[in-house]
Amino acid sequence: MRTEQPKMIYLKDYQAPDYLIDETHLTFELFEDHTLVHAQLIMRRNPERQGEQAGALPPLMLDGQQLELLSLSLDDRALAPGDYRLDDSHLTLQPQQARFTLDSTVRIHPESNTALEGLYKSGTMFCTQCEAEGFRKITYYLDRPDVMSVFTTTVSAERQRYPVLLSNGNPRATGSEEGGRHWATWEDPFKKPAYLFALVAGDLWCVEDVFTTMSRRDVTLRIYVEPENIDKVQHAMDSLKKSMRWDEEVYGREYDLDIFMIVAVNDFNMGAMENKGLNIFNSSAVLAKAETATDAAHQRVEAIVAHEYFHNWSGNRVTCRDWFQLSLKEGFTVFRDAEFSADMNSRTVKRVEDVAYLRTHQFAEDAGPMAHPVRPDAFIEISNFYTLTVYEKGSEVVRMIHTLLGAEGFRKGSDLYFQRHDGQAVTCDDFAKAMEDANGVDLTQFKRWYSQGGTPRLAVEERFDPQARRYSLTFRQSCPATPGQPHKEPFVIPVELGLLDAAGRELPLRLEGEDSAQGGNRVIRVTEAEQTFTFLDIAEKPLPSLLRGFSAPVKLSFPYSRDQLMFLMQHDSDGFNRWDAGQQLAVQVLQELIAAHRRGEALVLDPRLVEALGTLLADDSLDQAMVAEMLSLPSEAYLAEISEVADVDAIHAAREFARRSLAEALYQPLLARYRANRAESQRVAYAAEAGQIARRSLQNIALSYLMLSGKTEILEACLDQYQHCDNMTERLTALAVLVNSSFEDEKAKALGAFAEHFKDNPLVMDQWFSVQAGNPLPGGLERVQALMGHPAFTLKNPNKVRALIGAFANQNLVNFHRADGAGYRFLADQVIVLNALNPQIASRQLTPLTRWRKYDEARQGLMRGELERILASGALSSDVYEVVSKSLA
Ligand code: TRP
Ligand code: ZN
Repeated sequence: MRTEQPKMIYLKDYQAPDYLIDETHLTFELFEDHTLVHAQLIMRRNPERQGEQAGALPPLMLDGQQLELLSLSLDDRALAPGDYRLDDSHLTLQPQQARFTLDSTVRIHPESNTALEGLYKSGTMFCTQCEAEGFRKITYYLDRPDVMSVFTTTVSAERQRYPVLLSNGNPRATGSEEGGRHWATWEDPFKKPAYLFALVAGDLWCVEDVFTTMSRRDVTLRIYVEPENIDKVQHAMDSLKKSMRWDEEVYGREYDLDIFMIVAVNDFNMGAMENKGLNIFNSSAVLAKAETATDAAHQRVEAIVAHEYFHNWSGNRVTCRDWFQLSLKEGFTVFRDAEFSADMNSRTVKRVEDVAYLRTHQFAEDAGPMAHPVRPDAFIEISNFYTLTVYEKGSEVVRMIHTLLGAEGFRKGSDLYFQRHDGQAVTCDDFAKAMEDANGVDLTQFKRWYSQGGTPRLAVEERFDPQARRYSLTFRQSCPATPGQPHKEPFVIPVELGLLDAAGRELPLRLEGEDSAQGGNRVIRVTEAEQTFTFLDIAEKPLPSLLRGFSAPVKLSFPYSRDQLMFLMQHDSDGFNRWDAGQQLAVQVLQELIAAHRRGEALVLDPRLVEALGTLLADDSLDQAMVAEMLSLPSEAYLAEISEVADVDAIHAAREFARRSLAEALYQPLLARYRANRAESQRVAYAAEAGQIARRSLQNIALSYLMLSGKTEILEACLDQYQHCDNMTERLTALAVLVNSSFEDEKAKALGAFAEHFKDNPLVMDQWFSVQAGNPLPGGLERVQALMGHPAFTLKNPNKVRALIGAFANQNLVNFHRADGAGYRFLADQVIVLNALNPQIASRQLTPLTRWRKYDEARQGLMRGELERILASGALSSDVYEVVSKSLA
């Protein structure tokens, strides 16, 4: 909790550390009512700083929070309280020599740590979360990523309760102590910043495997879980081995220790953490088997296992100089895991999902009060900057570099980056410099993607001169102001495009100034505020396919007619743009319905949307996963994001009307696809494999449409799917469509049976909470409030908070935005309670309230009122304070 006025920290104030820590020797004595931490730090003056600060040694200021200092000695001389200064976040003392050893002992209380940062208990096990600044809650230290040290860690605990004792690196020694205790020592030979430190103690089982690296070294792989979950680990293990192979093949990166461990914990603030050699995961990002985890959950496990593994190079071997550079490791690693998932599954489907997510959520962040550049230049609380902008937009920035340099050029650049900076803590500029040097290019203007926030607009206009056979595209880019950045300079925007003739064939492209055509698809670079590209030898007016594969994170506009979009849906050679044409068509149709609803007019669905989707459904040759994606109308959240003023009731009414009309018009083809796929699902055993996932996604979206008919034959099919399936993907969809229907008896029965059957599986109960939290039928708030009292619910578990409160506020727009403001009041009440328990989770739950500018005046007032109430509610954490104060500014 905050005691002083929170301070803004600026990138421009960065200074290298005065002191370095060469070696860190830690001993933990774990007890039920406290933990003792002994730290021996072998330190020296930073030679880099000696020149700047000649003369006397500067004071040593160590970070430390919520620590009870029991003893302190400098080079074996015990220090008395007069020899140092303590405040609530630092320990300051005066070294006498350029090299010295500092020994400290502190007492901490993991058993009462509900913030889940530092050392804490999840259920009966001890675990740590140190990124970004949690290590300072474990011991006094230079808790900053540019201080890298080798670590030796000894853990001692009661053998019976904690048979497994883990830390980073390789195991070195174990032994027994009197009183039923035992200990283990781990040594990590790689220098690392403190945020990568980890410790685990618990009664855990593991699945073990071996991976032989490309230089034929055997690495032991272990995934540790609580005993009851040992049957849900194989998918994560398979994903790990695939990730290790992929990083060797695509990036030439080999694993470097003798052992790689993953531990699953139930209470975790984020998805997972890449601690060196000892990744700690939210159990939701590890555990998966057919009966308890959906296809989406299986794919999430695969992606997060890969993400954390890839950090071993992009993050650990090469780390960040300071936290402003967070996207150096996160943007790059998200790009790496996205490419991995694309290679393991369907590339187009993966891209579609990622882009839909970015456009809905990151674009909204970029348009709100917390907007910041990929490399922020100021923050109050770094935990608030683990954002969609740093992660997802950061990944798009790396993807653009990949697009501009090509796969080979990019690989040359990443090789140089890893070789040049191995063992260092570096900046986004260093990453760009390696890309430049390896390819002989200049990325100066491109780097504005790191320094300027906001989502650029790119308006495109065409001109055709049939006599001269010239076709021109004029691009105009602009970028709205964001906090602290009123004016933006032009970006480098790579636009992948093609031109289609009347038969849908790709035209050869010859730009003005070129001697001959260079194939169809190509990438042009828009670098000016306004820029025209002219294509020669164009006989008839073509139809442009723009921003293929979403080659840049911008809002592109081109005045397509609905007929042109239908043409692109069928003929574009780029699968992503076929989907995007469908989305643009649906957006046009839905916006027309939203406007009609607001005018109080009767709604009429444009038959072209029915025709377009009917054509897709009739085509057996198409990828079923893509058909399912194209049948999914843009989400309410996306429709809200692209509205000037979001009218959630009109959005919901229009979208539901469109879904009902489509269900009615396409009833027969939907039923045929449903029946065929459902029969196949019953015939073969579940596997989380791309072909099956595609089949189930089409089956399930078909069921969700069909259920809107209210027909008994569909209710029966739904109940049959709910009862007779071997997997959670079919079961949960059946439950969700029942919950959203008006078959009250069947709904209550299914919800009750589900909870009874899965009451001992917290991850499945999370899904049960989410399905109900997302139900848009009237009374949503009351249902959520009742569920808060369910025995399986607790505010202390972040997964539960996200499953119930998060799902309600983010996915149930009509109920959350109730006109009387009760949804807002509910959320603010929860944030106030969470602020004291877990500031990181409290702050994240605030997001929907920060978007108040999107809504009508009455709702704006109600939302602001709740933010003000939070601000006045007492001692706020820096996390909540920063988000609330910036939102009200
Ligand atoms: N580095 C982690 C990742 O992206 C993120 C993370 C895990 C994190 N736990 C955290 C960030 C707690 C802040 C606080 O893989
Ligand atoms: Zn990460």
